[in-house]
Amino acid sequence: VDLRIDEQGRPWVLEVNGNPDIGPGAGLARMLRVAGGTVEDFYRRMVAEAGRRAAASVVVQAETRGGSVPLRGLAPGDVEPLVAVLERTGAFRDDEVDVGREVLEEADRDGPSGHYQVRVAEHLGQPVGWTAYGLIPLSDGAWDLYWIAVDPAVQGLGVGRALIADCEADVRRRGGRWVLAETSGTDAYDATCAFYRRCGYAVVSFLGDFYRVGDARVTFGKRVDG
Ligand SMILES: CC(C)(COP(=O)(O)OP(=O)(O)OC[C@H]1O[C@@H](n2cnc3c(N)ncnc32)[C@H](O)[C@@H]1OP(=O)(O)O)[C@@H](O)C(=O)NCCC(=O)NCCS
Repeated sequence: VDLRIDEQGRPWVLEVNGNPDIGPGAGLARMLRVAGGTVEDFYRRMVAEAGRRAAASVVVQAETRGGSVPLRGLAPGDVEPLVAVLERTGAFRDDEVDVGREVLEEADRDGPSGHYQVRVAEHLGQPVGWTAYGLIPLSDGAWDLYWIAVDPAVQGLGVGRALIADCEADVRRRGGRWVLAETSGTDAYDATCAFYRRCGYAVVSFLGDFYRVGDARVTFGKRVDG
């Protein structure tokens, strides 16, 4: 809203701009400065938001044993339902769930131009699984699959396989070579290891006593550029 205050202190509305001038010398930039922000930060947030909306609208239909499942990008309001999926798996400690939440919040804040790429599987309009992955710093082609989780209500139907295939396709499209997934070597993670093997992953590194004494870090990897 373009306002001017005259010499008697009366405000006048000159016009309402649906699409204001966002140039650094225009009124919006001055308003941002008065509000304590910067026009550069505003540009960054606007681009991240546009990218986030675009990514959320890219939907791939994946065929699973439970029917066709849409896979899409992170959408506004997804963080809490996706944290709830992590909790319902019963596979993660509270501190691990906290880290998962931080990843989702960062992805939500930065959009797809940020580090974390998040993809969400839906069933009957509700999020039932998700992946988060990103290019490992200092590598130009190795990607880390940081998180994959599927709601126990729909596990065993192929949703996890669909999510991991979707991640691999995205990494391949971006010119990546490796998808790596770290997990724990304890018995509690046998099912997770079986899942990675069934999806074509092999152990590429093993470091004993990594997480705790008796709890190794097992890194599964798959080349996706072949
Ligand atoms: C691991 C997880 C993502 C698998 O998702 P899912 O949707 O149940 O897996 P899928 O139905 O797509 O299974 C894909 C393949 O893995 C195999 N698999 C899945 N779970 C398995 C298990 N518990 N034991 C053995 N094999 C298993 C399936 O048999 C299937 O193979 P097939 O298609 O050749 O028959 C899911 O169980 C989960 O969220 N677990 C808890 C969280 C976790 O451990 N995440 C990984 C660490 S971050």
